[in-house]
Amino acid sequence: MDNRAIREIYEGLASAYDWAEGIPEALVIRRLRRRVFAAARGRILEVAAGTGRNFEILPADASVVAVDLTEAMLRRARPKARRRGLQVSFAVMEAEALGFRDGTFDTVISSLSTCTFVDPVAALREMARVCRPGGRILLLEHGRSNRRWLGRLQDRFAETHYRAVACRWNREPDALVRAAGLELVAHTRHLLGVFHVMEARPAAA
Ligand SMILES: C[S@@+](CC[C@H](N)C(=O)[O-])C[C@H]1O[C@@H](n2cnc3c(N)ncnc32)[C@H](O)[C@@H]1O
Repeated sequence: MDNRAIREIYEGLASAYDWAEGIPEALVIRRLRRRVFAAARGRILEVAAGTGRNFEILPADASVVAVDLTEAMLRRARPKARRRGLQVSFAVMEAEALGFRDGTFDTVISSLSTCTFVDPVAALREMARVCRPGGRILLLEHGRSNRRWLGRLQDRFAETHYRAVACRWNREPDALVRAAGLELVAHTRHLLGVFHVMEARPAAA
């Protein structure tokens, strides 16, 4: 799949996204979002912001730029920013080619996105490029379980799942972070080893 195909899938999913994610969100994902994104400070970039589910966690006085491939997803994020009273600038943009100067942001955040990016390593390199030296890259991702039975099950249905919702659920997000040359400073796994809470930094020049 290329970015055009991914965008088409998310245009189709946008109206049902919050509803469909409601149960996993309530059971586990919201808690993990708080755990990782409460530390976001200063000028914040959210990459693949989707319907804006992280906005409720970001500090109310933050200055936020939210980008996503799919306008239909961002359309659902705008009211959430307004309700929260958060200053957010929105832009349709590919994570693999972020239109910002090096070192623009204090914190770069992204969630449930490396499973979807056509080129996740390029996207993570871009996050590091636009993050200032000493800034933070905060990530909540999901991937292949480290429980053997579940990992195998994910492998078995990986292609079917990818074709349906453009999500490669058997990627290894921590390996992608390292492959992109970021410094992984904190990493924990949750819920049968599927979810990854990660804090990374751009590698020192
Ligand atoms: C599973 S959703 C996650 C949305 C949100 N981050 C969340 O936590 O609910 C994946 C999002 O990634 C976006 N996306 C996929 N590929 C992208 C790319 N190359 N650049 C920017 N956004 C992308 C999709 O449009 C979609 O909104």
